[in-house]
Amino acid sequence: MIPGTITANHPLLTDAATRARDIRSRFKDLFGGDCRLYRAPGRVNLIGEHTDYNDGFVMPAAIDFDCWVAISSAEGTAFTVHSGNLGETREFDLAHPQPRHDWSDYIQGVAVMLQKSGLPARGAKMLISSGVPMGGGLSSSAALEVAAGYALLDIQGSPVDLMQLALACQLAENEFVGAHCGIMHQFIACHGKAGHALMLDCRSLEHQLLPVPKDARLVICNTMVKHEISGGEYNTRRAQCEEGVRLLSAVLPGIAALRDVTVQDFERHRERLSPTIQKRCRHVITENQRVLAAAAALTQHDLASFGTLMFESHTSLRDDYEVSCSELDFLVQVAQGMKGVYGARMTGGGFGGCTVNLVAVEAVADFQQKLASAYHAHTGTVPEIYVQTCRATTSPFQSTHSRMGRSFAAPD
Ligand code: GLA
Repeated sequence: MIPGTITANHPLLTDAATRARDIRSRFKDLFGGDCRLYRAPGRVNLIGEHTDYNDGFVMPAAIDFDCWVAISSAEGTAFTVHSGNLGETREFDLAHPQPRHDWSDYIQGVAVMLQKSGLPARGAKMLISSGVPMGGGLSSSAALEVAAGYALLDIQGSPVDLMQLALACQLAENEFVGAHCGIMHQFIACHGKAGHALMLDCRSLEHQLLPVPKDARLVICNTMVKHEISGGEYNTRRAQCEEGVRLLSAVLPGIAALRDVTVQDFERHRERLSPTIQKRCRHVITENQRVLAAAAALTQHDLASFGTLMFESHTSLRDDYEVSCSELDFLVQVAQGMKGVYGARMTGGGFGGCTVNLVAVEAVADFQQKLASAYHAHTGTVPEIYVQTCRATTSPFQSTHSRMGRSFAAPD
């Protein structure tokens, strides 16, 4: 086995039926009784980083790893939630919502937002089992939010509107967890499709599914450096973008977000901004252009151009947005010189987490081996490398409803 490689028999990729059986039996041990199962996938963003909260464009794809929630209803408004990954149990009560500043806030936050949108406050018991690597920038928190939110709606017999669910989950993260993330993760967890990337306009929420060519693979390489999205840097970047809009709107009336600023307008007026704000704005404005160009390239099956845009995106995130780190830069630099690699870039919020690489199918095995060895030699850490089949799980909800809601929920 190639070091650092997740193979088909890795626990993260245990087949669905086996996993359902295991989770069901753990639920019985913990809480007694039967449960229903729901799941939602993580995602990798191919291009369009730090553009979502600027009303811009992103292009994520659902990945093969997902988060499962086993649930049954409880008396009153009390929740007991157990993380199988962390071996921790938490309790909270919807009658007195209170952030605990840990993983359970994602669930409590979603429950609170659904309640605000009209869902009756009812308690639940939940077991969480996630295969999405945590803190890796692969949306483990959104997968948890969306699976938990879907579960809460469905066990109360409430119809599930995926658009509203995505927005409620984003609100939970913004207002309850305190991370001012955009809509990207929650949206793709709700709307992704196997074998496709999803080009999303984060302002209008219009979206388009674009097939990922079968002769290339998305290869994700985890630096194993944990990123912490609720950390201050993210919120600082967001505030810097808002400051840029405020200053530019003096000469560009009518702009509501950096999405509305063209590269030409930015070049004409950038002297009004401090050097740091200039760099932040330049990243977002040029990144939006790159996503549009990348969508056109993907439509034309032009992987070379797509890959070039990925490298450019990384450079911009490293130098202008300053959210990369030496481990991510090293992985991208090594990938850049390798055969069969169309493109590579950091993905997600930054400061650790993963790179995403677009690699020709026939070059994947060699790429994995060489990248893992180079990283190990350089940092002393064995990276995890996930080759995506893009067979993902994507819309968890069809399966949740028709398969999970029924056959998985039915007695074995
Ligand atoms: C984090 C946020 C996302 C997005 C990315 C950067 O992962 O949760 O909403 O802003 O950073 O693209």
